Amino acid sequence: MGAVLTELHRYAEEHFAIEEAYMEVLAFPERAPHFRAHEKFRAEIAAISASSMKDPAVRELTAMFLREWLTRHIYGIDKVLEAFILESDLK
Ligand SMILES: [Fe+2]
Repeated sequence: MGAVLTELHRYAEEHFAIEEAYMEVLAFPERAPHFRAHEKFRAEIAAISASSMKDPAVRELTAMFLREWLTRHIYGIDKVLEAFILESDLK
């Protein structure tokens, strides 16, 4: 796996693990679609890692796409979760 993908994967897993723990503990009402979004990202990373994408330029382009996806996720549905956490007693 390329360095960019490795770092993206590591960052995403840390980020997802923390959020998923909060969603479970707080019984976040929208956790099912949020979990699905995380799983979709995991599947994309796994597919890239297992693929025969040997061209470094294509791999880097794909990594850029996933990084953009993650950024949109963080500034999108993660904000809904953040607001929910901040309203909870566990903040
Ligand atoms: Fe998330």
